[in-house]
Amino acid sequence: MIDVDDKITSLLSEKRVFEPPQAGRETAAVGDLESYEREYRRSMDDPEGYWAERARELVSWFTPWDRVLDADLSKPEVRWFDGATLNVSYNCLDRHLASGKRDKTAIIWQGEPDEEVRRFSYGQLHEEVCRCANVLKKMGVKKGDRVAVYLPMIPELAITLLACARIGAIHSVVFAGFSAVSLQNRIQDCEARILVTADAVLRAGKIIPLKPNADEALEQCESIEHCLVVRRAGYEIGMQLGRDSWWHEEMEDDAITAVCEPEPMAAEDILFILYTSGSTGKPKGVVHTTGGYLTYALHTTQWVFDLKDDDVHWCTADIGWITGHTYILYGPLGLGGTTVMFEGVPSYPGPDRFWQLVEKFKATIFYTAPTVIRALMRHGDEPLKNRDLSSLRILGSVGEPINPEAWMWYHLNVGGGRLPIVDTWWQTETGGVMISPLPYATPLKPGSATRPLPGIDAAILNEEGQLAGANEGGHLVIRRPWPGMLRGVFGDPERYRTTYFEEFPGFYDAGDGARCDEDGYFWIMGRLDDVINVSGHRLGTAEIESALVSHPRVSEAAVVGMPHPIKGQAIYAFVTLNDGVDETPELLTELRVHVRTEIGPIASPDSIQYAPGLPKTRSGKIMRRILRKIAAEDFADFGDISTLADPGVVDDLIAAKQSLN
Ligand code: WT7
Repeated sequence: MIDVDDKITSLLSEKRVFEPPQAGRETAAVGDLESYEREYRRSMDDPEGYWAERARELVSWFTPWDRVLDADLSKPEVRWFDGATLNVSYNCLDRHLASGKRDKTAIIWQGEPDEEVRRFSYGQLHEEVCRCANVLKKMGVKKGDRVAVYLPMIPELAITLLACARIGAIHSVVFAGFSAVSLQNRIQDCEARILVTADAVLRAGKIIPLKPNADEALEQCESIEHCLVVRRAGYEIGMQLGRDSWWHEEMEDDAITAVCEPEPMAAEDILFILYTSGSTGKPKGVVHTTGGYLTYALHTTQWVFDLKDDDVHWCTADIGWITGHTYILYGPLGLGGTTVMFEGVPSYPGPDRFWQLVEKFKATIFYTAPTVIRALMRHGDEPLKNRDLSSLRILGSVGEPINPEAWMWYHLNVGGGRLPIVDTWWQTETGGVMISPLPYATPLKPGSATRPLPGIDAAILNEEGQLAGANEGGHLVIRRPWPGMLRGVFGDPERYRTTYFEEFPGFYDAGDGARCDEDGYFWIMGRLDDVINVSGHRLGTAEIESALVSHPRVSEAAVVGMPHPIKGQAIYAFVTLNDGVDETPELLTELRVHVRTEIGPIASPDSIQYAPGLPKTRSGKIMRRILRKIAAEDFADFGDISTLADPGVVDDLIAAKQSLN
């Protein structure tokens, strides 16, 4: 649990500043710092006027709202654009057909095999979505019903989500890397009537069965009436009579037409549920609504990524996560852009896969995670050589604080030293980016997500709930509602209230530690449950990790607290070295000295263990819970490790730890 008595000390001392590029400013959505500041002030002086203007400009509404906002965060009760009706699929498809984009590419899909590419024009996508919507209707799906989606990164995933939105069904995507048990829990929690899945997943050259997981999950999911199965890998599976049917057969059925009117939805009707982990074991079903989420997705895609008609937008996330929902699907398609959807992984068939695809599709915007950048850094700049990356104009980062070394590598090697990096802080709960540079307006400081977007009233509070001073660590909160904020935890209003609105009444509590420097720049220090307390000093584990990975021989690091009789907690570091570097005792000493000189003696790790692999979830998050137990030599019960990308690393780490003693 979080011990919040002490001040959170942030010792990061990054001082470099990078100005936004000159070229591109004239046509940018926000082209200079003064414009950002003007917009920010305007949004704070008159939030309702501000959001009403953005919503009118970006979204096509069937009928207008009666009230822009009806909110009381202390309850919490938040309603945006009440009385208005709209349809998200209409906004992502139909209206673009009417504006001459019928033949424009909406989705470029790259399968894992390089020769498998499919391009969907807006016209074709519209047709597929309407057919799928009719298939769902035929299965009895009605407005408000839940549809669970357990699919790899194939076009059918995007089509299914848009089809749900079209008929007012609530989609709940479960990342295809999750286990049968996780799928089952999520289906049971939201009582889905339909499951859409596939035979198998292609991953790093292997076929990984998926439908067998679904079968196992469905053994105890009474709510499911139909299971629609996409054939992706030609993998042999069983089909349960009366329950299962093939996607291609349903879609090609004579009775299924490509005409389906979009259902008018109330602004506050639920668009989707997406499960995310909390501090307790049971995942939370984060609820997003139609009008507010769409407005916020479009607003942030336009401003943070400056998405224009001729851009090729590539977000490398999986649609199983919020990043994919907002920045592969709804944001880019809502604006009528071209979005890339990639089935594969960054390292297969080789570490140049991403750069080869940037070149192949002439991507202009590239959005990925620090963990990916660090993994690719291990291979040096060789994989980037002879790749034409000149199409790129904006780079993005999301998911965790990006350490300055990874930032610089990204900036210099991928960005040629000229491209801005938008380090975007946000969460599943926020629906879209909250704190981030605007690429042509904000001077960048490596490692800082910079400043809140217009409309976002972010602040740092200390333990007493008072505003923290400059550089004083504290709790990151948002003091006013924004359109993209979650509206609930599905089926659990009490958890919604206690998780986000209890500790600081009237504010949204993000659960992250952060500090704000003298220029108003936010430095996110990570989840507060990842903060450790050493001799009465609170240290962000991310900062120690950042120091470790700034050592030229280190590729990744994870730091946890370990019980210590005198200090309370001691610092335990797991360190992954670069390819070919020997795990010597001398290097351990060197690393300790390195952290000492980077941050100070207080942050010097008490123990360092070499870790050829770290226990990461499929989304790249390190499961510190496991590392804390290994550090404490508590090998008894690791709890649920089903979300790990490679559960085998846990045994390796235990064995290594035991051999140290
Ligand atoms: C948590 C949310 C929404 C994107 C994917 C993750 C951390 C996210 C940053 C960033 C520092 C970041 C926070 C946040 N985080 N982006 N740019 N800098 N930390 O979504 O799984 O809901 O996780 O990820 O700790 O609370 P998520």
